[in-house]
Amino acid sequence: MIKKGKFITFEGIDGAGKSSHIEEVISFLESKKIGVKRTREPGGTRLGEKLRDLLLHDEMDPETETLLMFAARCQHIAEVIRPALNDGMFVVSDRFTDATYAYQYGGKNVAYSKIEILEQWVHPDLKADLTLLFDLPVEISIERLSKNKILDKFEKESEPFFNRLRNVYLDIARQNPNRYKIINANQAIESVSRDVIEAVKNIL
Ligand code: TMP
Repeated sequence: MIKKGKFITFEGIDGAGKSSHIEEVISFLESKKIGVKRTREPGGTRLGEKLRDLLLHDEMDPETETLLMFAARCQHIAEVIRPALNDGMFVVSDRFTDATYAYQYGGKNVAYSKIEILEQWVHPDLKADLTLLFDLPVEISIERLSKNKILDKFEKESEPFFNRLRNVYLDIARQNPNRYKIINANQAIESVSRDVIEAVKNIL
């Protein structure tokens, strides 16, 4: 894959607060006159957003869920991510394939090897240049989520589920120290912002 732009992904357990920092990163990059495409998973395309609706609200077998995540991702890469990177833009995605390892393998016990096969099929040559992992204790994320009125299927999961997926994220981060930056999401919002922007500056 020809790739001229850079690919930044945001990850973390639900309630870690990553989404509120995406806007800051976009503004920072735009202030440096860098073209940015903001996107998210599951979703990012017309088809992907329809699949998102099913994935977040319909109960289904975890393997079906994994396949639909990758179906949405395949379309997302073809329609949005690859063209933007080839145009030299920075792509900032709220989640990508690490979320499938965390949620479907860590959370729901889908075989790791099956997810690896799908990753190899759908994007053998695409990896994020920087992944920001918003990390915080699960009790705090659950407390934050409890303030939301409407919770989706994943947000309603149990504490052990979130602990399992947090551990998978931390393992992936340890195995990929060059790509990953762990952000302590359990500190003042200004400090979180400072750490996020610092990490982005390091890949410019
Ligand atoms: P969001 O709430 O961060 O927008 O993400 C949507 C939900 O989808 C979130 O609970 C995590 C879940 N998800 C997976 O389970 N597997 C995946 O591969 C992705 C991208 C998201």
